[in-house]
This record gives sequence, C-alpha cells and structure tokens, in this order.
Amino acid sequence: MALRAVIFGASGGIGAAVAARLAEDSGVERLYLGSRAPLPQTDARLVPFAFDLTDEASIAAAAAGVDRPVDLVFVGTGMLHRAGGPAPEKAYRALDGAAMAELFAINTIGPALIAKHFLPLLPRDRRAVFAALSARVGSIADNRLGGWHSYRASKAALNMLLVTLAIELRRTHPLAIVAGLHPGTVDTGLSAPFQRGVAPEKLFSPEVSAGYLLDVISNLSPAESGGIFAWDGAPVPY
Ligand SMILES: NC(=O)c1ccc[n+]([C@@H]2O[C@H](COP(=O)([O-])OP(=O)(O)OC[C@H]3O[C@@H](n4cnc5c(N)ncnc54)[C@H](OP(=O)(O)O)[C@@H]3O)[C@@H](O)[C@H]2O)c1
Repeated sequence: MALRAVIFGASGGIGAAVAARLAEDSGVERLYLGSRAPLPQTDARLVPFAFDLTDEASIAAAAAGVDRPVDLVFVGTGMLHRAGGPAPEKAYRALDGAAMAELFAINTIGPALIAKHFLPLLPRDRRAVFAALSARVGSIADNRLGGWHSYRASKAALNMLLVTLAIELRRTHPLAIVAGLHPGTVDTGLSAPFQRGVAPEKLFSPEVSAGYLLDVISNLSPAESGGIFAWDGAPVPY
C-alpha cells in the first residue's frame, strides 16, 4: 500500500536519516519534509515545508498543505542546548526560567501542537503511527544520575502528553499508535558536547539509529499505543 509520511525536523541529525531511509522506500508515495529552512528536493515524491515549533500557525499551515490521510507522523525535533542559550544544568543552582521555558517550548509544547494539527489527519480505518523522539533521561523511574533538570522535565512532560493523546485517540482511531522513541546515543550536534565516556559501540550513527527506529515503528501494535520505546524495541519505564 502506498504510504504518506510527514517528518518534522528533517534538517536534524536523526530526522534527516529517517527521511533518507523513507525516501528509499518505494512503498512511500509521498514524504513531507518539515524544517525551519525548507530543504530543496529533486524527487517529486519529496515535498519540503517550513515550520517552527514556536509558531502554531506554521504547523496549522503545514497540516492544511498535506494530502490526507497520513500514515506516519515522525517528530524528530528537539533541543538539549543552544549556543548562547540553554545548556544542561549540573545543579539546581543553574536553573533559569527563560532557559527552562525554551526547552519546554521545543521539547514539549511544539510536539503537542503538531499532535493537535496532525492527529486528525490519521486514518480511522487502518494502522497509522504518530511517533515523537523522546529520551531515556525523561524517564522518572530511571533517573539515578540527576542533572539536566530542564531537558529531563521537558521530555517527561512530553511522555505524559503522548500517553494522554494515546488514550484520547483510541476512541476515534482504534488502530492508531502514539509512541515516544528513545533513539540511543546518536552522533549528532545535539549529543556532540556530551559524547565523552560513551563507548564507541554505544554511539550510533544517525543512519543506524534511523534504521532501528523505523523497525520499532513498523512493529508497534495499537495495544502498545502510549508507550515509550527504545531503539531496540524495549519499553522505557515512565
Ligand atoms: N542525539 C542523541 O543522542 C539523542 C538521544 C536521546 C534523544 N534524542 C532526541 O532526538 C531528537 C533529535 O535529536 P538530534 O540528535 O537529531 O538533534 P539535532 O541534530 O540537533 O536536530 C534537532 C532538530 O530539531 C529542530 N528544531 C529545533 N528547534 C526548532 C524549532 N524551533 N522549530 C522547528 N524545528 C526545530 C532542528 O531544526 P534546525 O535544523 O532548524 O535547527 C533539527 O531539525 C531530539 O528530540 C533529542 O532530544 C537525541
């Protein structure tokens, strides 16, 4: 069956690799590639669009511009640090309201607004997936190291939203799946300053992580909607 997929964050390390994998899949009839600065495409199946997570109107416009129904929405955006802006906190003394608000705007509120505008585009009569990149460090149960307060909290809040969305969507779209995904530690700009101490075999290239994530997405069942899953398919505790 010909599938339509929408990627948010197609300029990102993991988002670009997921997009490249899907572009190679002849079963994908149309692939919408969203980024802040739209990426020029030569293949007619690949349709670039511009959006900003902090601008709901741009997300609504993106939804209005895609053919429906949409079989896969992949939210590959996110932030851990920004040059001259937020950096992961080592201690509560470093907490800063503006930096926290920025992390929540990107990691929590933006994906929620994408869900608001794109969940209605999923088919009601067949399998479809809304997947957002979360992070294992957003797990409350798994938090043994502390630190990174704002990033952890913004991802924990994202996870709660995904669970809540899954419960609501089940009523109208019984075959749809809402999932959070932990991609592993992936060699991108986001993780670059924090890779020291990561064993080489545990640092995935974006291409390897993308392959794992698409396998996880393919294997999820509607009964698993609302879960957070790691790159190997194992559930991440909340
Ligand atoms: N890399 C890892 O080891 C790792 C581990 C666990 C979880 N994750 C999660 O995986 C996701 C992707 O990470 P990555 O490593 O691929 O990071 P990345 O290469 O830095 O990509 C981040 C993406 O988010 C987009 N973005 C940021 N702010 C935006 C905004 N205001 N509006 C629209 N797009 C915006 C960026 O767009 P621009 O190109 O326009 O900046 C880029 O496409 C994140 O949610 C991250 O938390 C990553």
